[in-house]
This record gives sequence, structure tokens and C-alpha cells, in this order.
Amino acid sequence: MDIIRVQGGHALTGGVHVSGAKNSALKLMAATLLAPGVTTLTNVPNISDVHVMGKVLKGLGCTIEVVDEHTLAIDTSGANSWEAPYELVAKMRASTAVMGPLLGRFGRAKIAMPGGCNLGARKIDMHILGLEALGVSFDTSHGYIFADAHEGMSGTMVTLEFASVGATENLIMAAVRAKGTTVIDNAAREPEIVDLANMLNEMGAKIQGAGTPVVEIEGVDELHPVEHRVIGDRIEAGTFIVAGALAADGDGIEVTGFNPHHLGMVLKKMELMGIRLERGVDGVRVWRADRIAPVDIQTLPFPGFPTDMQAQVMVLSAMADGSSVITENIFENRFMFASELVRMGADIRIESHHAIVHGVKSLSGAQVVSPDLRGGAALVVAGLIAEGETDVSAIHHIDRGYERFCDKLVGLGASVERVQVPDLAED
Ligand code: EPZ
Repeated sequence: MDIIRVQGGHALTGGVHVSGAKNSALKLMAATLLAPGVTTLTNVPNISDVHVMGKVLKGLGCTIEVVDEHTLAIDTSGANSWEAPYELVAKMRASTAVMGPLLGRFGRAKIAMPGGCNLGARKIDMHILGLEALGVSFDTSHGYIFADAHEGMSGTMVTLEFASVGATENLIMAAVRAKGTTVIDNAAREPEIVDLANMLNEMGAKIQGAGTPVVEIEGVDELHPVEHRVIGDRIEAGTFIVAGALAADGDGIEVTGFNPHHLGMVLKKMELMGIRLERGVDGVRVWRADRIAPVDIQTLPFPGFPTDMQAQVMVLSAMADGSSVITENIFENRFMFASELVRMGADIRIESHHAIVHGVKSLSGAQVVSPDLRGGAALVVAGLIAEGETDVSAIHHIDRGYERFCDKLVGLGASVERVQVPDLAED
């Protein structure tokens, strides 16, 4: 099996340019279904989740030209199916993002019910409630969700119980083709949603308020294909900024290719921890912190502290001069990473959705398992400062959302490599 082997103690130097945002690119790809023709997406991250979304679109009758490693020309003119197959939805929950576009394009969608994942149930009840308000009827059987709006959709007022990213996106992508105006209240405000709304407006949609809690969508009869650049990945950037705060040499490291405003709360919390940061237009310079102050963290919808940075910031807290409480409010089961970090010597106690982290002087290299995409990356980052060697397995999770993660770390001076090791557990 493939693992990532990290030798601790190598200082980071120089700079790294992050890829396009996974959590934007996947939805932009789905949204191309709304505009028959060839939409070209640039700055697309070359990661396995993008490859899976490509398979979903091809399964729906689209064709995709890989113009270069980061540019996809997606032709949806031949789209002739509204079924997202089970094996692909089971592989990647984000495939449910095709539901809104399929309803907008065909008035129908057949989506395999998304299974749970390591983070929790990952339901889509808010997606369904919102779409029903637009006039979509649902039926579920044999593990599939059938959505029907063949008589069209009508704009309405929808208030989300929780500012769900996925529900907001699916509702926007359906509402752009509804008759009349839809208002989504308590909408999610993530930068990836603003990126999606920007592309849809470039396609001819009429969306106002994306990035605020109230989004207004005036339905239109048709959308046209465009060229659109994916925003930089703020979570990938945050992961490297944490690495720099822990292991940069005297000059610090530069992390570019993203908008620092998309990481406002993360950068603010890191500065409260005593980490020196310099914000630029296209990135941040970060220096290694001699001392990290303990700071409590609550994960919340944007602009609150992002749950996708919870594991990474926990590594900082694990090295702080004192105790911190990290509270996970978004997912019901996102502390599995903590138990792996404890194997490296961290002092963490979990109480319900709180992690009480007592700082330690050092971590020791160990064999650890990636629990999910962000936890896996955070384990590699912890290995950068741990004494000795850290072997991180289940790295397919990391490949889902981090393009050339090892290469980028090696480019910063880390001693990190992918190696093949026998899987002793394999029978
Ligand atoms: C998106 O997931 C991201 N994924 C996640 O990133 C991110 O952690 C999450 O937003 C929160 O920011 C993609 O964009 C592909 P939600 P999503 O709908 O849309 C519950 C990563 O590491 N919920 O805001 O699924 C849900 O179970 C991934 O890149 C319902 O109960 O997030 C979860 O507990 C991990 N019913 C919480 O809300 C619903 O109908 C947040 O879900 C919808 C959601």
C-alpha cells in the first residue's frame, strides 16, 4: 500500500502556490450542465475528486477535454441522462451537487442516496426540503432519490434550518431555471458559493447576495457556456500556513494562489496564538512561532472558523503553552484525527463535541492512519515537527483534495516521500 513517510526536523523555506479550490471546482463542474455547450474551467485542481466528478458528467452524456493539467473544456450539449450512478455517488458525496443542475436542465434527477462518511451522516434533508418548496417532488426507493420537476419549478422563499453549503448550492443551481424569483434565507456564505454564483451570472443568471445570508435568484430561460477560473483553495493554503507556523526557517515561507480574505478567521486565530503573518493580495507569508499561545476555537459556517481547518489548527494547539478547547459544531464525528495525533504524543481529551488539548513540548513520529482528507494532511504536517519518522497511511483521502501534496512539501524543504510498503493486514 502507498503511505507518506515524513522525517521530522527539516525546516521549511521558500514558497508554495496552492491549486484551485476543490470545493468550488466540483460545483462549477456540475453547474456546466445548466449551459448546453462548452464551458472551459481554468485553475482546476488535478485531484481524484475532480476525476470522479468528471466520470459523473461523462456518465450523464457530457464530454470533457483535458486542455492542460488544470484546464477542462466540458461539453454538456450531449447530456442525455439525469441519473448519477450509485458507485460514483457512494465514492464521492459531492456528486449530489448535480441534482440542482439536472433539475434545471431536464426537470428530473435520479441520485443514489449519499452514504454517510467518516465525518458523520451527511444527510441531504435540507436540499430536499428546499427543492420541494420550488415544486420538486421526491421519491426514494432502492437506495435512489428520484427528483421530479417536469412541470417546472416556481421561485419561492426558502429559509434553511442551517447554513448548509451543499443545500445552498443545489438550491441556487435549481432556482436559476425556476419561473420567478427565489429567496434563500440563512444561506451559506462560503467563498466557494460566491465563486459558483459569479460563474452562473457570467452564464446569464441573475443572482444577488451570494456571500451574504440572503441570496436572491431571478429565474432565466437559458444560460450560455463561459470560461471561468476557479478560486484558489483556501483550505490547502491554510494547511501550508500551519506547516509554516510550525516548521519554517528564519525567513518564513510564502503561501500564494488564494485570497487571504477567504481565511479571515483562521488567520485571526493564528495571530491570537502569537503567529506572525503578513497578508498580501495573493497570499500570506508566515514565520515559525517560537511560542504558541493556547486559543479556543469553535468551528462554524463562514465567516466563522472553517471545520476543514479544525485538524490542522489542532496540531498548533497540541504544541501550545497551555490548554485549548476546540469545539466542532459542523460535523458529528470529526475528532478521529485527534486520536491519531495522541499516538504521536499529543495530550488531547474528547468530551462530546469538544477536544481539550493540553500543549506538549514535542511530538514523536509514529505510524498513523488518515481518518479523512483534512485529518490526513494534518498528520503529515504534524510529522514535519515530530521526532523521527512518521508513516501516514490511507493517503487516498489526501489525494482527494491535495494536488501533489508531497511534491509541494518537498519544494518547501521537507523530507516527505510516498513509499510502497507491504500491507501486513492484507490477507
Ligand atoms: C461542504 O460539505 C464541503 N464539501 C466540506 O468539505 C465542508 O466541510 C462543509 O461544506 C462545511 O463547510 C464540499 O464542498 C464538496 P454542509 P457539505 O451541507 O456541503 C449537515 C472537505 O474536507 N447537513 O454545510 O456536505 C451535514 O451532515 C469537505 O473538503 C444536514 O444535516 O456541508 C453536516 O453535518 C469535508 N442536512 C453539516 O450539515 C443537509 O441537508 C454541514 O453540511 C445538509 C447538511
